[in-house]
Amino acid sequence: MRKEKTDTNAEPFITEVNRECYDKLGKLYKDGKRDLDIIVKIGAWKDFLDNLSGKSILNVGCGAGDASRLLLDSGYEVINTDLSPKMLTIAKEKCPEAKNLVLGATELDKLNERFDGIIAIHLIQHLNRKMATDFFRQTYDHLNKNGVFMLVFTNTCFEKNGYQLEGGAVEGNMIWWNKWKLEEVASLIGKYNFKPIKFYQQKYVEKSCGYMEPFVLMCKKA
Ligand SMILES: C[S@@+](CC[C@H](N)C(=O)[O-])C[C@H]1O[C@@H](n2cnc3c(N)ncnc32)[C@H](O)[C@@H]1O
Repeated sequence: MRKEKTDTNAEPFITEVNRECYDKLGKLYKDGKRDLDIIVKIGAWKDFLDNLSGKSILNVGCGAGDASRLLLDSGYEVINTDLSPKMLTIAKEKCPEAKNLVLGATELDKLNERFDGIIAIHLIQHLNRKMATDFFRQTYDHLNKNGVFMLVFTNTCFEKNGYQLEGGAVEGNMIWWNKWKLEEVASLIGKYNFKPIKFYQQKYVEKSCGYMEPFVLMCKKA
């Protein structure tokens, strides 16, 4: 029998592995709070809020919902989305007044609304190039004019691309990870009519996943 050649780096495989990975982690995933502390510490969070011209925010790959909690506490309206039903349940507990939807980053077209701000914190490490291209297009389409996009990512957490052990509290948990080059990300976003606001450069690397200065790209829909 002829074997089908299957591209395991295609979206269905990647999403399945990462969904399972975060479903297994659930409450054990604690990096979100520490990552958010860094974003606040370097001033990126304040810059994001200062550039918003309205209250509606979409958080893509919201994880445990720490960033959304902060937004809700400051009077913003939030929609949380995540691929993992388990992470979304946790986000829902933390953000009961938000709308919480199980939705992949490449499925934003299912939403019938536009937002004043969209954030994606440590999400694109889980997207291949094709998925990221789709995600950036949909992000652009779902922002209001002057809407702000804050993209946070790092390339220091894992030493290689692709499928590997996540190495956290769950034994044998596999993850799919993309070590993005900054120029690659900038060129994909650059296809859309975004005006740059500010860029934060990753400064140092620590072994531990979670305590690392991120890259932050912040831009506005022209
Ligand atoms: C590293 S965690 C970051 C979570 C959160 N943004 C934070 O900063 O705490 C990555 C999150 O992205 C979600 N995720 C992975 N692939 C995704 C995809 N294709 N679409 C939407 N969410 C995804 C995971 O389920 C996980 O909750």
